[in-house]
Amino acid sequence: MGNALLAVENLRAGHCGGDIIKGADFSVSEGAVSTIVGPNGAGKSTLIKSLVGLLAPRDGTITLAGKDVARLNAPSKARAGLGYVPQEHNVFRNMSIGENMTLAYEFIGSGSKGLPTARDRVFAIFPDLAHREADLAGNLSGGQRQMLAFGCALMPDPNLLLLDEPSAGLSPKYVAEMFEAVKAVNQAGVSILMTEQNVKEAMVISETAIVLVAGTVRAQMPAEDFVNHPDIHALYMGTSDAGAKESG
Ligand SMILES: Nc1ncnc2c1ncn2[C@@H]1O[C@H](COP(=O)(O)OP(=O)(O)O)[C@@H](O)[C@H]1O
Ligand SMILES: [Mg+2]
Repeated sequence: MGNALLAVENLRAGHCGGDIIKGADFSVSEGAVSTIVGPNGAGKSTLIKSLVGLLAPRDGTITLAGKDVARLNAPSKARAGLGYVPQEHNVFRNMSIGENMTLAYEFIGSGSKGLPTARDRVFAIFPDLAHREADLAGNLSGGQRQMLAFGCALMPDPNLLLLDEPSAGLSPKYVAEMFEAVKAVNQAGVSILMTEQNVKEAMVISETAIVLVAGTVRAQMPAEDFVNHPDIHALYMGTSDAGAKESG
């Protein structure tokens, strides 16, 4: 495996009550696609939100490219190289493709000097966005809207992109298109950490599986080991030693 781009140690986070993320440890390799899987309510979205700065971690460290980013707010994290695509409401439907991308760039607060370069970089990854720049986001198909959401998150030029359930709400015919878009982003040199319910499809494009159960990382392993795991059920439910943490 490559060097760790992201290293998370003993991360604790929650909403208003007790900890939902209860001391999570895992890492993400430079250049890889890594996927967090786990049952509904395991804390996947909460984990992603605490990584991007929408929820303050209560304990632990988050190291991105050697820098401790755990206590940075969301715009500072974006400037540090962390991109994020929320599960829902990830584009403004009453704005055009171009306007959504401009707004995403302005989020990092660096003025508009680098905007044309950023647009060209994103359009090179997603030429379809360039062809429809003036179209309203609300008129795009689900798959194209997800592509726009990725494009917006790429505007600040992140080195790690976090995607929370990117296939959620997409009809099956658009799911493949969306995973192609994830691959395109990765091939452009951006590492990916995503959560997914479409586990089988996600594993096809992933190097690493991270299994999150009840707020703790039960296992981290190569995606093909996860797919061929003799007892996924035990891994999810913690009913055997199957989840002994393997090197990731
Ligand atoms: N905004 C919130 N306020 C309070 N509790 C929340 C909030 N969002 C999620 N939770 C709780 O946190 C737990 C984990 O939820 P979530 O992170 O959404 O899991 P997953 O994404 O794995 O399905 C659940 O018990 C859920 O009810
Ligand atoms: Mg979720």
